[in-house]
Amino acid sequence: MNVLRRVMCSQFANKVTRQCFIPKHRSSLDRQYSNSRLNILGIETSCDDTGCAIINGNGKVLSEVVHSQNLVHLRYGGIIPDIAQDLHRIHIEPTVSKTLDKANLTMEDITAIAVTLKPGLPLSLAVGMKYAKHLGRRYNKPIIPIHHMQAHALVARMHHDISFPFLVLLISGGHCLLAVVQDVDHFQLLGESMDCAPGEVFDKVARRMKLRNVPEFSKLSGGQAVEAAAAKATNPHMFKLPLPLSEYKDCNFSLNGLKTSVLYHLHRKEVEHKIVAHELIPEVNDLCAAMLMATTRHLVHRTRRAMVFCTENNLIPENCKQLVVSGGVACNNYIFSALQMLCNETCYDIYRPYPKLCTDNGVMIAWNGFEKWKKGLDITTDFSTLDIEASSPLGESLIHQVRDAKISTKMMKIKSSI
Ligand code: KG4
Ligand code: ZN
Repeated sequence: MNVLRRVMCSQFANKVTRQCFIPKHRSSLDRQYSNSRLNILGIETSCDDTGCAIINGNGKVLSEVVHSQNLVHLRYGGIIPDIAQDLHRIHIEPTVSKTLDKANLTMEDITAIAVTLKPGLPLSLAVGMKYAKHLGRRYNKPIIPIHHMQAHALVARMHHDISFPFLVLLISGGHCLLAVVQDVDHFQLLGESMDCAPGEVFDKVARRMKLRNVPEFSKLSGGQAVEAAAAKATNPHMFKLPLPLSEYKDCNFSLNGLKTSVLYHLHRKEVEHKIVAHELIPEVNDLCAAMLMATTRHLVHRTRRAMVFCTENNLIPENCKQLVVSGGVACNNYIFSALQMLCNETCYDIYRPYPKLCTDNGVMIAWNGFEKWKKGLDITTDFSTLDIEASSPLGESLIHQVRDAKISTKMMKIKSSI
């Protein structure tokens, strides 16, 4: 059995499954939030997935539908905003109708509409916002504006007993950041990506490696394909890749250099093997493993520093240290297992949402709307105040304070067989 595959089969992987699927606090949450007439409709169109879901007053998902554009964009080798918008326009109405039908509800039964307004692709965000406003006006329902990254962070509370405050690592195709979540509406940003996000790197490199030409990878996202290829590696130490930002004592992320190194090795091997057209280099699995390990090392290194900063500044209580990992890349079992090792060492509990709730979906938007509704936050019937924002920082920035603290952290050895 190769080294990376062993990770999936280890005790950690079992623990991951247990932690992910036992809703420990369901009954207390039910009591706390019980409201038989509350139904929140969530709409997500920030990127290439048209998502919709309904959550009732007990915090229970009544229905959910996601229309994914993944296969279309795979053909084009990346998300084309105009095409994403056209597909959202085509699918938004049927997706919302199907969600209502599945829950056996009509718009009359909906209490409020939660919709992603930031950050994201403007053309995509606009479709969700316009449709939410149309529904709001037609059926006289209030709208709850949602920040996409806040929704990714908070959805972990739906199935896990996670109290405020907690540390969150958000890793997706568009973002990479570390933050402390003090409350539903209070986020403290500790570090963010200075160039590209991990999912973006996996997607671009997977395409350049031609992983799509391997039949078993042909329908997977770049990140999924990289994880699957890495699991087949026979020599994950063949390629040496640098640890990004090792000299910078902050919690920011940079993956551009790593991506360039991987592309350099790929090109070198293609020349060496005289690779043509649709062929892949024979070492493709080992190169994927090396990239995955290097990315993981970087994520773990920055997260460790964030944990020290939180302790030194009393941001997270010593008796309740929790790390949430969310966003599409959180589906990656190798990355999650490495973070779990870090958490074992630092006495943190670690959580992630179900895989289908890590990637973009309507449930996380409806859940965020539900949490905001309970606290009376951001609910409006004045739709003229609502607009989309392509980029939007997550809460108050503590990035300078983190940098000024100059915290040295030891490197955790990330083995290919965690
Ligand atoms: O959160 P998400 O659905 O969309 C954004 O907000 O970006 O994340 C999508 C990203 C894609 O780049 C995809 O390649 C990556 O998540 N992803 C993965 C895995 N599953 C999805 N990356 C690594 N390992 C995975 N298993
Ligand atoms: Zn996302």
